[in-house]
Amino acid sequence: MKGIILAGGKGTRLHPLTKATNKHLLPLGREPMLYHPIRQLTSAGLADLLVVTSTEHMGDVVNCLGSGAEFGCTLTYKVQETAGGIAHALALAEGFARGEKCCVFLGDNVFERSIAPYVRAFEEQPIGARVVLKEVGDPERYGVAALDEHQVIDIEEKPKEPKSPYAVLGLYFYDPQVFEIIRGIRPSARGELEITSVNNVYIQKHQLQYEICAGRWTDAGTFDSYFEANRILGEQQNRILA
Ligand code: G1P
Repeated sequence: MKGIILAGGKGTRLHPLTKATNKHLLPLGREPMLYHPIRQLTSAGLADLLVVTSTEHMGDVVNCLGSGAEFGCTLTYKVQETAGGIAHALALAEGFARGEKCCVFLGDNVFERSIAPYVRAFEEQPIGARVVLKEVGDPERYGVAALDEHQVIDIEEKPKEPKSPYAVLGLYFYDPQVFEIIRGIRPSARGELEITSVNNVYIQKHQLQYEICAGRWTDAGTFDSYFEANRILGEQQNRILA
């Protein structure tokens, strides 16, 4: 399974911290933000990783992460020239994935506990995609999953009236069909290729599985969530709990 870290975007909600640097290079605890997805993926056994970021900050990202030797992995880089959304960034990974399954990690997501159990579960899953959900107090900020007893029946991106408290976290698992699916989706009202549209295609195919996240989780895209991410990783000195 390949690992893909998405680190594009303009980070406008963290302005002025992001005036001169990429959000994903800001500190969390004692390390740059991007160390966390790399540590999570490598400790779950993934050693071939792709980092996608914007043209503007690619130089700084490469300066920060290098070849991956420091982390015991191989890093490949790909430039996302326009901010076309998460699914647009993922489309750039097709050549890198080479027909393998992939684990997609949004570079500003922080998981207190190891993602290894989710990786193992997807290794066992014969086909389709897998998402990780968590009950949150502010679901309108996220992709929100409507559930019946057994499965996700629909995901809405940042709904005004969420159908459930379950946010879809920025960790996704896809089989090789994902690239064909991305070619079939259309931009949303905000002009982006949404990862939620991709996940809804898997739902229609009855090929989306899910699990609930154990332990604390946050993104780091707003000041409140950035401080929470610092709290989590600061407390555990950037280590990942089992
Ligand atoms: C993105 C996704 C959203 C997901 C979130 C998790 O939102 O579009 O579905 O719940 O990441 O961090 P963004 O933070 O890019 O607005």
